[in-house]
Amino acid sequence: MRYARISGTGSYLPEKILTNDDLAQMVDTSDEWITQRTGIKQRHIVADSENTISMAVQAAKAAIEAAAISAQDIDMIIVATCTADFVFPSSACLVQSELNIPNCPAFDVQAACSGFIYALSIAQQYIRNDAAKKVLIIGTEAMSRVIDWTNRSSCILFGDGAGALILEASDTPGILSTHLGADGSYKDVLYLKHNNIEQEYVSMQGNTVFKLAVKWLSEVAETALNANKLQPSDINWVVPHQANIRIIQSTVKSLDIPLEKVIVTVDQHANTSAASIPLALDVAIRDGRIRRGDNLLFEAFGGGLTWGSALVRY
Ligand code: COA
Repeated sequence: MRYARISGTGSYLPEKILTNDDLAQMVDTSDEWITQRTGIKQRHIVADSENTISMAVQAAKAAIEAAAISAQDIDMIIVATCTADFVFPSSACLVQSELNIPNCPAFDVQAACSGFIYALSIAQQYIRNDAAKKVLIIGTEAMSRVIDWTNRSSCILFGDGAGALILEASDTPGILSTHLGADGSYKDVLYLKHNNIEQEYVSMQGNTVFKLAVKWLSEVAETALNANKLQPSDINWVVPHQANIRIIQSTVKSLDIPLEKVIVTVDQHANTSAASIPLALDVAIRDGRIRRGDNLLFEAFGGGLTWGSALVRY
């Protein structure tokens, strides 16, 4: 049986840190309010000289090194982002150029904060069908460039960063399953308009998004467990999309998984959209919590609305 296995991960966070106290100097909010409602303490912010591509390239280099391959071995590039610098060329083509990766399919996936799970799902299908051997997947976001920094309801939530991984063909598992969903009838509760003339910002009905997120995350995570005939106790680590600690807590509670088994970075990174899962994954692999053979559950939701999960044997 041919599987798709994670062989290396990498990530990048901009140097500049914006704390809740810094934000309280900018809008009418407080560290206490943000911490209680979201669990966020700080977020990283791109420098003027950086962008989604430069962050993606740093994360990709670290993943390539961790996988002990050369950039020339990569035969597909998928970038998940909703803050691309160019409509075209795609971010994936720009990463390809920066890293001197030879001719191979390269494209972006746009499913907002679920983008990484969508990209992972596509990549593993190519590998399992013997149409690719080594896929570079990146989630990269400069959310600070699409945030209205005068709107306290949304500006407190987001941060910048990138996470990457190499998915390789292998005889051993591997991605066990992926599960995707979308419901465009909720297009108005969370959106970012593309406007060629004026700057547009993220628009969000926070309460509605919160409730729908818990509902769909719980459902799609349960689907992943059932599809693999696994119990919650079989999961070593949940690596969730990092939007809000209360969403994470409610979801794992409904799944009967203790919070101790959840990789939490939302306090340090805030919501980095499509970058949040690969960033959290890289942090927990590098600090030794996630080990080879562990069963991992990824789960995400975002604008669309979209959602997805993946069960992974690391
Ligand atoms: N600081 C202080 N007060 C704030 C505030 C802030 N940053 N933002 C909102 N408030 C106020 C509101 O104005 C409101 O005041 P009022 O009662 O006088 O009208 C009060 O706090 C409660 O607002 P509400 O929006 O009901 O709070 P909430 O408990 O729902 O928390 C979110 C707001 C945004 C933190 C929460 O809804 C959330 O996290 N939703 C999910 C968003 C998300 O994850 N989006 C990305 C999806 S990928």
